[in-house]
Amino acid sequence: MIRKLLLAAACLPLLACSPAQKTPKSEFDFGVPLKDVMRGIMDQAAWGYWNRQGENTGPDGTTSKVPPDPAKLTDEKAKEAAQKEWDQARYSVIQLIQATNLIKLPGYVRTVEKNDNGDWIKYADKLNGLAHLALDAVDAKDGDKMFLTGGDIYEVCGECHQKYLIPFLDPKTGLLPPGISVSGKPMHK
Ligand code: HEC
Repeated sequence: MIRKLLLAAACLPLLACSPAQKTPKSEFDFGVPLKDVMRGIMDQAAWGYWNRQGENTGPDGTTSKVPPDPAKLTDEKAKEAAQKEWDQARYSVIQLIQATNLIKLPGYVRTVEKNDNGDWIKYADKLNGLAHLALDAVDAKDGDKMFLTGGDIYEVCGECHQKYLIPFLDPKTGLLPPGISVSGKPMHK
């Protein structure tokens, strides 16, 4: 154990040590399955945006979820809080843009046996385009545009799930059967 630690420490600054380490199978790391990428990155990013656009409907009527414009506030604390919300909206959209790149990496792309048409990449690209519109809308603090792009983004998530997820779910468990998501093999029913 101690020897191992010492070796690791000795290797740290030296790139020359790397051939002795385990050679990665791919230049990218696909150790985290797509499902976790979806839950942990894609979904988080999308909700970081959805939570700051549109309206909340409750017993007291509707309230806008769009943060107030800090420039229109006078109270310093309120200004700061509003700015944080806008920053978060922006960071979430940036995460969403990059999540569309992530799912285009070879280990995450899925294909179906019939009429695949390369739709995976098309959906990822469509989502990317919309996420850029969302970024413009956030930068313009345009609540109406944020609402529209928010809805369009939601639709593309659904379109891709409709093709690459829902038809393959086991009706009994509601889950994807094991092995179906192996990269490189088209999924079939
Ligand atoms: C290019 C296709 C594609 C796009 C676009 C896409 N998804 Fe997914 N998503 C999938 C697939 C396939 C799975 C199933 C992964 C698995 O279980 O192996 C999935 C799974 C998920 C899950 C996990 C569901 C569960 O079982 O817990 C969530 C959450 C999710 N996606 C959210 C989103 C959101 C939000 C968006 C849009 C912002 C989105 N996805 C866009 C293909 C896509």
